[in-house]
Amino acid sequence: MDIQNIISKITSLKKTLKDSVVIPAHHYIKSDIIAQADIVGDSYKLAKDCSKTHADFILFCGVKFMAEGARLLAKPNQKVLMPTLLAGCPLAEMIDESTACEAYKLISSLCAYEVAPVVYVNSNVALKGFCGKHNGAICTSSNAGKIINTYLNQGKAVFFSPDYNLGINSARILQIPENQIVIVKKDLSLLCKGSIKNARIFLWDGCCYVHKKFTVEHIRKLREQYPNIQIIVHPECDEEVVLQSDFVGSTQTILNTIKDAPEGSIWGVGTEYHFVERMAQNFSNKTILPLKISCCEDMGRITFQNVYESLQSIVQYPEKNRLLYEVTVPIEYYTNAKKAMHNMLSIVEDNK
Ligand code: 13P
Ligand code: SF4
Repeated sequence: MDIQNIISKITSLKKTLKDSVVIPAHHYIKSDIIAQADIVGDSYKLAKDCSKTHADFILFCGVKFMAEGARLLAKPNQKVLMPTLLAGCPLAEMIDESTACEAYKLISSLCAYEVAPVVYVNSNVALKGFCGKHNGAICTSSNAGKIINTYLNQGKAVFFSPDYNLGINSARILQIPENQIVIVKKDLSLLCKGSIKNARIFLWDGCCYVHKKFTVEHIRKLREQYPNIQIIVHPECDEEVVLQSDFVGSTQTILNTIKDAPEGSIWGVGTEYHFVERMAQNFSNKTILPLKISCCEDMGRITFQNVYESLQSIVQYPEKNRLLYEVTVPIEYYTNAKKAMHNMLSIVEDNK
């Protein structure tokens, strides 16, 4: 099927389904799909907006942890679907629940403070369940600092996982002293410049391969070529890259900052390429350049064809009882993982 044909079919399926379906899409999703989406945003906006929708079906165009987050916040009668279940996130798999429990036990036994888990939404549901069970909260890239600080202000230490970079970049903004920061390695060895007993933040050593590719050298070259350039990067980038940048923020913050910038301004952006490319097209009165072309392969697995097939399966439901593809959460993690997601929403929304 050619692209025009699929577009008209998707448009007509959406007309048939009216308000019974909502299509949220993350900023990293390809532009042709974004154009069909009802909600476009960063992980936090998508989670929050999905929690408010009354649609019977939420067809989530993003990676699996995002759709699982929507499932945890959805009403029991709603169904959450993904166009393919093969869009995962390697970062989300960088710590499993049993290793997290082991690390948490070890940290709690060595640290003088009560330890609260803060788990990045880029994680599997089992880890979210671990987080809720120990009265912690999920965070996204737009609110990690706020969530960590909430627990620090309660006199607790924080065990942050799985993304080291988001953790260290947030710790720097919060000015947590160097000797109170601990790196937790995969073999559970603990690296600290001070005493572990007095540490306030423990950072798991995971990373995102898409954001790891950006270097200080990319920034140096762009600054050499464009002396007036402003650099904005995602907090999953390495600390030294963030330090060499002018701004750091979630995808929504990046979009808003560039959208509101004066005409003629020049931007170097350190995040997923499809998103950077779309901003360059949409804000053609500004110069928007990637630090480097770095794509999220998993986001790329959401295609026009599989979005169309999912919508078709919704139209045919329940006669043909085969939804493509329903996202479910194992019952053993559901209550605690949901609690951890709600803890994030209440910390963020109550402190606005
Ligand atoms: P956002 O919080 O900006 O949506 O980031 C999610 C993500 O996966 C970045 O790689
Ligand atoms: Fe996961 Fe990185 Fe892709 Fe974000 S960009 S979804 S963290 S692999």
